[in-house]
Amino acid sequence: MDSGTPAIEVERVTRRFGDVIALDQISLSIGRGEFFSLLGPSGCGKTTLLRIIAGLDIADEGVVRIGGENANDVPAHRRPVNTVFQSYALFPHLNVWDNIAFGLRMKKVHEDEIQERVHKVMAMLEIGTFAPRKPSQISGGQKQRVALARAIINEPQVLLLDEPLGALDLKLRKQLQIELRNLQRRLGITFVYVTHDQEEALVLSDRIAVMCGGKVEQLGEAKTLYEQPRTKFVSQFLGSCSLLEGTLKHTDGNGLVVDTPIGELHVAGPTPSRSQFTLAIRPEKIQLSPMRSNVGGNERCYYLNEV
Ligand SMILES: Nc1ncnc2c1ncn2[C@@H]1O[C@H](COP(=O)(O)OP(=O)(O)OP(=O)(O)O)[C@@H](O)[C@H]1O
Ligand SMILES: [Mg+2]
Repeated sequence: MDSGTPAIEVERVTRRFGDVIALDQISLSIGRGEFFSLLGPSGCGKTTLLRIIAGLDIADEGVVRIGGENANDVPAHRRPVNTVFQSYALFPHLNVWDNIAFGLRMKKVHEDEIQERVHKVMAMLEIGTFAPRKPSQISGGQKQRVALARAIINEPQVLLLDEPLGALDLKLRKQLQIELRNLQRRLGITFVYVTHDQEEALVLSDRIAVMCGGKVEQLGEAKTLYEQPRTKFVSQFLGSCSLLEGTLKHTDGNGLVVDTPIGELHVAGPTPSRSQFTLAIRPEKIQLSPMRSNVGGNERCYYLNEV
């Protein structure tokens, strides 16, 4: 695989469950070493897409390529990907050490090398002290790290993570978010990260695909999605904002002057292609300023000069 080849390509993938169209002609391309998130509300198709990339489910239509190769006919265990499930899926009868070593033993890696690699990955995730314990004897956050260790030790090209921090409390979640991001940078593995938490996606991702009803509504860098949402759904799903119907009155040197139900607003930004549109106003972008001319009165009025 040359360095320009995307790690994952999904082309016009559709998956139906009876009448439900879980994925509707999804196309996206994920770069090597990218931290890519699938973000969207419950039922929008995130897990289904991840399972199809992993080879755990089969698309009705479309192609999945991994490292440039068509993977449609490649069984899950032969794909260079590993999955971390929300439920951890650890073997309850094996201790932490053996859980992590399991994949290497299956591959018949030499025992000396197994010892070395398990030690290394446990040190990286700071779980060495739990080695002899069973999964039932460690906390949720510790289980999560063991699940990650077990996935990372196989040195996959791509790691698929389905809401991996979903079961954790807020403090641990924040801590593990940072650790995950650092780990991804250090190892250079492509991460495909499923979450319905917009803040988590914004903090972690290089790029995000915002999904709704089996489709990708918008795909881009966090900053672009936040500042230039293309649809109402994306604007509402990523952070809080108010929506106002607007009619363009005219443009001036500072931007647009727009008629809205709450009065005239001065809006920074490019001239829209239509005269009627919806304004998405992020609260932190609002600036209050004294009106420049206030005909016939002394009281001060304020207008919004940037939204
Ligand atoms: N095996 C299945 N049989 C029937 N319908 C299914 C099956 N798996 C998923 N679906 C449906 O497909 C749609 C997408 O489901 P999916 O699990 O991908 O959503 P999700 O985005 O992962 O949601 P969540 O955030 O709740 O995990 C949903 O409407 C779901 O009910
Ligand atoms: Mg899911």
